[in-house]
Amino acid sequence: MIQIAVLGYGTVGSGVVEVINTNHSSINKKAGEEINIKYVLDLRDFPGDPIQEKVVHDFDIILNDPEIRIVVEVMGGVEPAYTFTKKALLAGKSVCTSNKELVARHGAELLDIARERNINYLFEASCGGGIPIIRPLNSSLTADEIDEITGILNGTTNYILTSMIQDGSEFADVLKKAQELGYAERNPEADVEGYDACRKIAILSSLAFGRQVDFEDIYTEGISNITAADIKYAKAMDMNIKLLAYSKKVGECFYAMVAPALLGPNDPLYSVNGVFNAIFVHGNVLGDAMFYGSGAGKLPTASAVVSDVVDEAKHLHRNIMSFWSSHKLELTDISNSQKRFFVRAKGDPKTELARTEEIFGTVRPVIVPELEGEYGFVTEIISEAQYKAMAERHGKVISRIRIRHS
Ligand code: HSE
Repeated sequence: MIQIAVLGYGTVGSGVVEVINTNHSSINKKAGEEINIKYVLDLRDFPGDPIQEKVVHDFDIILNDPEIRIVVEVMGGVEPAYTFTKKALLAGKSVCTSNKELVARHGAELLDIARERNINYLFEASCGGGIPIIRPLNSSLTADEIDEITGILNGTTNYILTSMIQDGSEFADVLKKAQELGYAERNPEADVEGYDACRKIAILSSLAFGRQVDFEDIYTEGISNITAADIKYAKAMDMNIKLLAYSKKVGECFYAMVAPALLGPNDPLYSVNGVFNAIFVHGNVLGDAMFYGSGAGKLPTASAVVSDVVDEAKHLHRNIMSFWSSHKLELTDISNSQKRFFVRAKGDPKTELARTEEIFGTVRPVIVPELEGEYGFVTEIISEAQYKAMAERHGKVISRIRIRHS
């Protein structure tokens, strides 16, 4: 029997208990041994809940119990999760986690400790909810040099954007619903401002490129500036707006960014709606691959955590996570990266478009008749720096959204 301890009995922690109870016999068969939850660590008590008898309030009980081989950290946040994880690994216990904040901040160090002790720090649930993406990057796509990862990595913002586009719902109402459904972070600013997606793309990039990508280095914009007018323009162009997180290797340069983007119906990410996530990966010999599925919520996330427990049960005393060194990867300044931009500007297109083309070169106008006193246009492929200089010179730009696959 493999004894495990679950740290945190919140949304994901209770999901882990539910998944292990629901699929007990098939999970044990796949793990090759019975998996038993011996402790649940939480500050609270849960009278009437069957796990109450396993609840402990002191982490040292878990740390000092030699029977515990695997610790499941689903507390979220950096502390005390970091201290508990480090102590568990140093004590020779493998750790499985959904904690993207901790993995993005201290992943390289925790992986080093696990490697030295021939155990594992596994974090399938940290990116893409229930979608297998960490394991494929670590052990399936090993014949390739990965040169692009582009993902819809935040279920809450995808749910919000989809509802705004499809039902015309208001931002605040949809966010409230996402919180009720257990998709959103405790502080939803992390979802809405793109910080959650930023941490996830930092983790995926570190794994794909084999070196530490610091999330603080990634240019990040959220969706809080996307308006009903932007959505009207998107519809007029038969496009969708998605919060994309991407990293790309171009020659010797590595770019990474999180920002809303317009994409057309031929884009594989166009139809990824609601709470679903998708991760598009390009490898130099594979070409394209895409991973799609449930990106947030209690059971999908718990499913990924328990898959790590099963993987760990099969690899006790053998390190299996290899491709993430603590050497820092220097990202290239995004000002050189090139794309088309959709731009909204004040004024009457009949009188303004000629001046706009003098500054931006040939543009494709996009007019939504009900939006008076403004017009939209799509630029040619230009760099971020060129766009910035042109917009400043123009003087009447309201906003811009980048276009994917220009
Ligand atoms: N708040 C996150 C999301 C949860 O909406 O994607 C899953 O990491």
